[in-house]
Amino acid sequence: MSQNLTATASAPANIAFIKYWGKKNKKLRLPTNNSISMNLSGAQTMTTVDFSPEYDSDQLTINGYQANERELQRVSSFLEKIRQLAKIKYFARVDSENTFPKGAGIASSASSFAALSLAATAALGLKLSEKELSQLARLGSGSACRSIPDGFVEWVTADTHQESFAYSLYSADYWEIADLVVIVAHPEKDVSSSMGHDVAPSSPFFQTRLEQYLPEATNILKSALKEKNFSIFGQIIEAETINFHAIALTSQPSIMYWNANTITVMQKVKELRESGLEVYFTIDAGPNLHLIVEQTNIERLKQELEKLKDIKQIIVSYPDNGARLISK
Ligand code: DP6
Repeated sequence: MSQNLTATASAPANIAFIKYWGKKNKKLRLPTNNSISMNLSGAQTMTTVDFSPEYDSDQLTINGYQANERELQRVSSFLEKIRQLAKIKYFARVDSENTFPKGAGIASSASSFAALSLAATAALGLKLSEKELSQLARLGSGSACRSIPDGFVEWVTADTHQESFAYSLYSADYWEIADLVVIVAHPEKDVSSSMGHDVAPSSPFFQTRLEQYLPEATNILKSALKEKNFSIFGQIIEAETINFHAIALTSQPSIMYWNANTITVMQKVKELRESGLEVYFTIDAGPNLHLIVEQTNIERLKQELEKLKDIKQIIVSYPDNGARLISK
């Protein structure tokens, strides 16, 4: 009976082109707006979950090290929801490995909660649809719901748990673009995006973003994706990044995620474009940048970036599939 309540799953991180910033329901992580992202082949989390009557509490390791109390608490309360679904009370041992370095500025919560959702439900024999898995992953970390479906993904906002989930717009092989994560700093700790979400509505520009800016930007981005129009796509993702950081900067308290090197690379991207290399940036809640290029330009871009002294590392990613079960 109690044997083999174990499963392993992997899931990619994702980069948002239209950002999730602000929640209308904090507990259910219902976002204030739809967001659009791409899964990243170069940033994966592989998670094994083992439920057993022999464990007297949940345990969590990340990259081989015991997780801290805060991380364990977040995972444990997420597992609690899955135990309730499966009507099984056993505690679990969770081992999670990331292919990308800690402090790379790639939020590991998306890939972690996507992999955990799939591994834990599979371990307990729950057979969830992609939509149900996405809803579940959203409760762990909002952006995690976008790491469940394949390729290019949209997460829809809604007023209920059942209606807010992510689905695939296009498969991973739809468009040959790439994301070069440019690491300019290794933040000591992840700057919490949760706090940023909470204070976003205090920006005097937040309602304008929601009501005027995002509906149009999202439509243009979707048409650019449909037509594979890289120039329009790039212009929109850069404008959206600036818009999102303007909200963070003008929130109370103000949050500045960039450092001096971030701005140096932003300016370099502009110069490269002027010199004929078409590249665009997007930046999440941290100082590191994601540079988006067509795959034919990866090597040229890398050579240009290597000339900049403040870059610590570059991670290349292609569009990827979503979460997958490795073993059960
Ligand atoms: C800036 O998904 O990390 O990366 O739901 O509180 O876990 P929680 O937030 P999280 O927020 C991601 C914010 C972002 C933009 C995005 O990925 O859409």
